[in-house]
Amino acid sequence: MKLHFSPASPYVRKVMAAAIARGLEGRIEKVATNPHLSPPELLADNPLSKVPALVTDDGIAVFDSPVICEYLDTLGEAPPLFPPTGSRERLLAQIMHATADGILDAAVARRMQMAHPQDEARQAFDARQKAAIGRALDALEAAPPEGLSHIGEIAVACALGYLDFRFAHEPWRETHPRLAAWFAEVSQRRPLAETVPAG
Ligand code: BEZ
Repeated sequence: MKLHFSPASPYVRKVMAAAIARGLEGRIEKVATNPHLSPPELLADNPLSKVPALVTDDGIAVFDSPVICEYLDTLGEAPPLFPPTGSRERLLAQIMHATADGILDAAVARRMQMAHPQDEARQAFDARQKAAIGRALDALEAAPPEGLSHIGEIAVACALGYLDFRFAHEPWRETHPRLAAWFAEVSQRRPLAETVPAG
């Protein structure tokens, strides 16, 4: 399989963490891509010019990150990261996954806006995204992940890692101690330790 890859992307991190958790990383060839430059090789596999995009061994281009993670779950022998279709466990895991991806969407949008002059409209946009992230962290603190066994837990870890990576000046641990304790423990595990963002 080929993965269009950027070492700073938290969505790429989620896919690679899922691949490691399922013992599939050796089957993935990582191709470094700058999606902001819309290179033709990426556009050929994802018209949206976004990473991650995965090309399967039989040539199907798969995106975005939740779809790739679900595809990876169909490969290999390790226990699945997505609980069985229709189960309560799956619903809860997917809600956690959506919460984490929502944090990422808001944080990445904030990061992209930082490059521009901070006029009133941008400041209002930033405040709205920051508030959404705060509420999502509060919701996770009220019912924190317990391990790193399903896709929701992997996604939350990648979201917290992105906040540390790009928003280290906005500490979240003191106000979210249960989340902080969980994150400290799971950060040592291979899927996270081997996918620390860079760039
Ligand atoms: C970043 O550099 O923060 C970034 C890169 C790719 C996707 C999302 C964020």
